[in-house]
Formats: sequence, C-alpha cells, structure tokens
Amino acid sequence: MAKHAGGALLQGFDVDRNSPIPIYRQIENTLRRLILDGTLSSGRKLPSTRELAMELGVSRITVKSVYEQLVAEGYLTAKTGSGTFVTTGLKLEMSSDFTRPSPSVSAPKTNLPVRAASIESSKASVRHGATDPFRPGVPALDLFPVKLWMKYLSDATLTGARRHLSYGDVIGNPALRRAIAKHLTDARGMRVDPDEIIITSGAQQAFVLISFVLLTHGDTVWYEDPGHIAGRDVMQIMGANVAPVPIDDEGLDLRYATQHHPMPKVIFTTPSHQQPLGITMSLTRRLALLNYAKDNDAWVIEDDYDSEFRYRGRPLPALSALDSERKVFYVGTFSKSMFAAMRLGYIVVPRSLTDAFAKAKTLLGQTSSAVVEQAMADFMEEGRFVEHIRKMRRIYRDRRDTLFESLSHESAGLLAPQQTDAGMHMLAWLPDGWDDQTAHRALLQQGIESLPLSVYSLASTQRPALVLGFSGAQESQIPKLVKRTAQILQNADNPPLQPPRRRLYAGLT
Ligand SMILES: Cc1ncc(COP(=O)(O)O)c(C=O)c1O
Repeated sequence: MAKHAGGALLQGFDVDRNSPIPIYRQIENTLRRLILDGTLSSGRKLPSTRELAMELGVSRITVKSVYEQLVAEGYLTAKTGSGTFVTTGLKLEMSSDFTRPSPSVSAPKTNLPVRAASIESSKASVRHGATDPFRPGVPALDLFPVKLWMKYLSDATLTGARRHLSYGDVIGNPALRRAIAKHLTDARGMRVDPDEIIITSGAQQAFVLISFVLLTHGDTVWYEDPGHIAGRDVMQIMGANVAPVPIDDEGLDLRYATQHHPMPKVIFTTPSHQQPLGITMSLTRRLALLNYAKDNDAWVIEDDYDSEFRYRGRPLPALSALDSERKVFYVGTFSKSMFAAMRLGYIVVPRSLTDAFAKAKTLLGQTSSAVVEQAMADFMEEGRFVEHIRKMRRIYRDRRDTLFESLSHESAGLLAPQQTDAGMHMLAWLPDGWDDQTAHRALLQQGIESLPLSVYSLASTQRPALVLGFSGAQESQIPKLVKRTAQILQNADNPPLQPPRRRLYAGLT
C-alpha cells in the first residue's frame, strides 16, 4: 500500500483561523500548491479525511469537501477502497490563479507606472463593514428607518415600470435634483437651478470629477491642512501641486496661502465644519476667500459634508450662498445624513461647466443607481429626509454631550475633549509628547476606533489628538466605552512623538 503523505503535507499547512479566507479554501489552496510545486508527488497517497481533519483540528466534512473539490478539478484521484491519491502526470506549468502571491505577501514592484506608484502611496482608505464605536463620520445606523426606506426603494423599482431599470439621466434623476435644489434653498440659503446639480456616487466621486475636469499637471490647489485625505490625494494624483494651508481660528488662513504658495487654480475648503478641527469659517474669511477667487480666477470647492448637524443656533448659510460670481463648487453627500452604502452625493456646478461635467460622468461611468436616486427623490419630496435629519440632530446632540461629559470625567489627564457645535466627531487632545498614531492603534486592537489627528496633516504639526466620532455610538454605551478607552491608553506603550512615518489607517479620512 502506498505510504500516505501526512508528514510532508502537514509541514506545508498553516490554517489561520483569523483569516478572512474560509478554512476549506485555505486547505484547498495549500493542497494545490503542494501538488504543483512537487512537494506532493505524482501518485502519493493522501491521509484519510479523518486523519487530516484530526491533525488540522477541523471537521471531517470540511476535509471531505476539499478532497471532493480537488478530485473534481483533477488534482486528486479517488480510488474506491484504497484512498485518495495525487493524480499522476500533472505538470508544474499548470499554474493557475492561486499560485500568484496572496495580497498579504508583498510582490516585488519594479517599474511601477508613475501614476500607479502615486496612487499606491495614498494614505486614504475606507474602513468598511461593521462599525466599531467612535469611528468618525458614521451616522446612527442603528436608528435608520430601514423599513421605511425599503418601501421607497421597492416603490421606485416597481412603479418605475422598468424606466429606472435602464440607465438614468447622466447628470442624475431630475426629481432628485429638484428636491436637492429645494433642500439647499431651505437649509443652506442657496439659490440653485436643478440643472446645475450633478448627482454623484458620493462626495469622493465629486472630487474625482472636479479634478478630472479642472486640473492639469502642475496646477496649484490650496488645501486645508490638516484636511480630508482622500480628496487631497486624488488631486495630487491628477498632477496638481497640493499646497497645504494652515487653519487659524477663522478657517483657512488666506494670508498664509497668498504669502507662501503660488496662485491656485482650486481652493479646497470645509467652511461649515473644518475637517477635522471643527472650526466654522468666519463671515469675514468667507468674503475674503470669495473676493480672492474672483480677483484671481480661482475655483473654490466647498465640501459641506456634515453641515446638517449643527447643535447651537441655526445652521449657517453655505459659503455658496454668498457666491454671486459662481466660482464655488458646492459638494454635498448623503453618506452622513442617510447612510454611506447608498452612495449618493452631488455637486452644484457653475453653469458654464455643467456640460463638461455631464460628459465627464459619461466618460468615467454612471456610478450611482437610478433606482436609489428615484427612491431618494421621493423620500425627500415627502418630507422624510428633513424628518430624519431633525431626529438625528437631537440624538447626535445627546451623544455629543454624553461623550464630552464622559471624557471630562473618566479620562482626565489622558484625553481632553474639545466641545464642538456641529458635526459628528469631537477632538480629544492627548498629553504633549504622546504619539496619537500609537494611541489609535492601541485602541483599534481592542475594538475602539478613532483617528489620529496627525494622519490628516501634510505639513502642519498639531498637538497629538484623537478624532472621536460620537454620532454612531449608542448613548447608553458611551460612558462605559470611554472608561475602556482610558484604561487602554493608560496601559498603552506610548513612546514620545516620533517623526511621521508612512502608515495605513482605518477609516476614510
Ligand atoms: C470631509 C469629508 N468629505 C467627504 C467625504 C466623502 O464622503 P462620501 O464619498 O461617502 O460621500 C468624507 C467621508 O468621510 C469626509 O470626511
């Protein structure tokens, strides 16, 4: 009887129970590799399913299904009564997909095209899936009226009589554009023609479109520093010279920018609620910025990502509401006011450029769904959106207050919270000399998300701080979570501030 391959086999095995790759798939992959690289030679007998299952600590059914799959693929041959064998005559050249290095193994990268290298080096990332507490920018998903939304979604699918099942209008559903125009008038003090609105699959697609249409190699973009990473990087990748502009207590420091940087083609700003510092741009600065843009023929991007949530007084009108010269691209998103998975946002585009943007969308692809657009149009028209925002505003205010109080009481000396009048996150300052990236990682390992303030910076050196999202954390859980946060930080090994290094971060920043 042929000796079975237990020893050689088991040496090559490494079942990782924490891997996102299912165990049966890991075993299959290993067996294929061992056969193709000759470790399991032609004709070798495999251990019985019982033996291998015991050795690997998996169920026999798992091993049985692996063997069956590999028999079906031709790697193994089952002989009734005698066992399972490596098929004879397989050649190594039969390599297929799985022989490529897995994504975790870094393949040598030579001669990467310049743009690919630049894209790869971006620090932007999207943290997907289940949201751990304090992840910034996450709405109260537990309170989203899912059933109600489903009704709108199914109505849009059914009553669209197949109309919405085809391509939508390239600039977006007209009813949705009308509803957004009305919302912008009511909530943001803007006067907008629906034909100036281009629907996108979120704010990020808006930044891509704007960069694609406006920027050519070497153009200067003034960018808030610290600021939103993914928008900044897309402009840099398109060849722009992204010039970091510090923030003072009135917003983007215009004087610094004019003194230190070349004239900009584009000025990127978050006037309602600076991302991430939370400052609201003063009226004086808004007017100065618009005057500068007019006099120097620059475009302004107003990223109004979370302006629906203001907790003191009435929301300030948008910067765009003051823009008589039409130099501002107003960017809105439903990722914060509804939920990110719906992938809907919009740009209000100066009239002279609407045709170029429509064509850009055709070229880059229609990424938002016509069905979702119709559902959202109805949701807005029937007052559901305003209702939802009002409710969320009350809830977020309570969550914000609880987080502030808990941090003040439970993390004294470790995290000093900075109160905020708007938005979905709060800054909490770490003691001087701490490394906020180390603190972020220590928390993340224990299931608490935050973002280190330093990750948002290009050139600015801020004191170390964590950006803590409160909107997505249940109020009753916040005090307990803050206590845990403080404990983890107390025990964390925090070296003095290190020079910045390239790292990967959780969360789209
Ligand atoms: C400041 C800011 N702008 C824009 C976005 C992009 O949002 P989306 O592409 O989901 O609309 C984000 C996401 O977190 C953000 O923080």
